[in-house]
Amino acid sequence: MPIHVVADSSAKLAGVRAVLEKRFAVTSELLGGIGVQRSDVSALVVKADLRTVESICTLKKLFGSLSRVRKRIFLIDDTAHLSVSQAYALGATNVLVGPLNQAKLLAELDDIASRDAQPPDDPRDAQLTASAGEIALASMFSAVACGTRIDVTSAKNAGSRIADCIDEYGLSKWLATVRNHHEGTYQHCLLVTGLAIDFGLSLGVPKNDIERLYMAAMFHDIGKATIPLAVLDKPGRLDDQERALIETHPAAGYDTLKDTKGISAEVLDAVRHHHEYLDGSGYPDGLCAESIHDIVRMLTISDIFAALIERRTYKQPMSRQAAYDILCGMNGKLERPLVAAFKDIALTR
Ligand SMILES: [Fe+2]
Ligand SMILES: [Fe+2]
Repeated sequence: MPIHVVADSSAKLAGVRAVLEKRFAVTSELLGGIGVQRSDVSALVVKADLRTVESICTLKKLFGSLSRVRKRIFLIDDTAHLSVSQAYALGATNVLVGPLNQAKLLAELDDIASRDAQPPDDPRDAQLTASAGEIALASMFSAVACGTRIDVTSAKNAGSRIADCIDEYGLSKWLATVRNHHEGTYQHCLLVTGLAIDFGLSLGVPKNDIERLYMAAMFHDIGKATIPLAVLDKPGRLDDQERALIETHPAAGYDTLKDTKGISAEVLDAVRHHHEYLDGSGYPDGLCAESIHDIVRMLTISDIFAALIERRTYKQPMSRQAAYDILCGMNGKLERPLVAAFKDIALTR
């Protein structure tokens, strides 16, 4: 599988090449240097500091000529959300954060090689819609990280496109497309959005409520923009301190959005309460059944299911049946008739 490497220093270029050359055919170029002939590249690996305007502008130009490369992996040294958001905004399909991790990078590329061996099955429209959704999410997360204005209209447009896409191709195609092409928190938010929309459509909820559902789903984890990626993307168990930090995200999301124009009271409520359970054991407010509204209940079910079926480099996605069985086992926490109604979404649609 031919791979093209781009870096902003000779040392970085040599470091990445040394890892990849043992297994792949590698071409490379220095950012801002003389372009090289690159044909039939299967994946692009970029290692550059995305905090400098110069790097960003040069990468933008470069991506114009490499837009057809389906997999674009960015290696980011600093753990700032801003750099990760910037990578996605430039067109990254995968972002690996922290010091160069050989095993992780090779696992990503092997994963690409094995998926390339299968015939592509995702409709182009679904891929474009998912990319637009990811760019909207990246811009929302970077706005929170920078303290700038959140673009509510882009999120709304992305949600509306996802609703159209699910209507046209069905939920399963959406889930497959997102899991094939997207990573981490953005993959999660795109999955939750698709599931929540399909849940709403299957129950025949009015158009206004579908819009509330997809807005709530797009924004529900925005509070995670304040949590370090090392904690968010940690494989394996979190310690008590890390868990406590993660549990700040619904209230942080609420605080971020509460003065944002265009965010309705229902969406705000869903962002704050999507981890509440009917039996009062959830967070941040320990609400009980009567205080948890329908949209929030639907979002919570979609959220848990999405987290279970996500694809991560370090873990196999759970099957839809196994994930649904877990929902069914959450006695007293989720509304039974809603979980029953979700069966069709979870297993069939
Ligand atoms: Fe959450
Ligand atoms: Fe979530």
